[in-house]
Amino acid sequence: MTEEPLPTCQADMKYDVLARAGFARRGNLHLPHSIVETPVFMPVGTQGTMKGVVTEQLVGMDCRILLCNTYHLGHRPGHERVKAAGGIHKMMNWNRSILTDSGGFQMVSLSKLMTVDENGVNFESPHTGEMMALPPEKSIEIQQALGADIMMQLDHVIHVLTTGDIVKEAMHRSIRWLDRCKVAHTRDDQAMFPILQGGLNLDLRKECAEEMAKRAKVGIAIGGLSGGEEKDHFWRVVAACCAALPPHLPRYVMGVGFPVDLVICSFLGADMFDCVYPTRTARFGTAMVRRGGLMQLNQKRYKEDFLPIDDKCECNTCKNYTRAYIHSIAGKETVACHLVSIHNIKHQLDLMRDVRQAIQSNSAEKFLRQFLFDYYGPIQ
Ligand code: GUN
Ligand code: ZN
Repeated sequence: MTEEPLPTCQADMKYDVLARAGFARRGNLHLPHSIVETPVFMPVGTQGTMKGVVTEQLVGMDCRILLCNTYHLGHRPGHERVKAAGGIHKMMNWNRSILTDSGGFQMVSLSKLMTVDENGVNFESPHTGEMMALPPEKSIEIQQALGADIMMQLDHVIHVLTTGDIVKEAMHRSIRWLDRCKVAHTRDDQAMFPILQGGLNLDLRKECAEEMAKRAKVGIAIGGLSGGEEKDHFWRVVAACCAALPPHLPRYVMGVGFPVDLVICSFLGADMFDCVYPTRTARFGTAMVRRGGLMQLNQKRYKEDFLPIDDKCECNTCKNYTRAYIHSIAGKETVACHLVSIHNIKHQLDLMRDVRQAIQSNSAEKFLRQFLFDYYGPIQ
């Protein structure tokens, strides 16, 4: 497949808001390796690969930015080796944009193996069993060796349902760590995003937004969400953070990927999202669809169903394979996981394309009506 050259901009990173609909924005984020149209969903490749998908296929879907995980890459193959390979873009054969997370989030997801103090996060390496310190400076050093377009600050992430003084302490610590990350950040061809913390407390979120906005250059993230809190609380925090942030910075809500959340958060003023959900759920044979939300292809009802997953989808899977075929290999062959992953990523990218189009053409209400009807309406 030949790759269409994309317009690129060196070092001059900026965000242009091109259209608005209520709180929602349609913008262009100019990064060193591509121009990213927002609101955008960024697929996640944890180990420097997208499970079941190669980069040529992502280019074919017009994906402009991917997320990679510093914590995983820092261990294997190791950031020095990635640097020796010419950086993460070259190593992955992906010359569009990349965002690396700082490792802070693994505090929550791997918390049995970690402690945190003012100096940083201490992890037990899953590969060697040794304890490893990750201070903010080290996270930036690793992320600079990887060379992604966007790096994330090291933040103190606590579980979203935690209460008490720790919520405020983790928020203030994240501001102090942001200042240390800024000192360590020396490459001017990489952006660094601060990450708002403060749990479900709207006053803490507002205070954090004001402090971090002063220090943000290219964009800013809203972290610490999507960990089992009620939707109402989650959406309220996103709305409050977006309202407290200046309009010239894109707002990235971390770890969000359910279609309904992408849609609601976009219309609350958020611009960027990532989640492992589309590829994780694909591994269980679950395809994402507009009508009804999910299609479990391992169910018997698909045994003789010779339709594509979605007849309106233009992904390679829907153009070439039937539900019955995927049903027959689901759980047995890795290719089933590849086929469903491709479709699920395309589903998310198409959904965001339609959200952008709705904002651009001022047809948000029509879009929402159709989206909700398809998602929650009568099943045929
Ligand atoms: N991924 C999902 N949520 C978060 C967060 O709060 N911080 C970081 N660093 N990564 C995340
Ligand atoms: Zn498809």
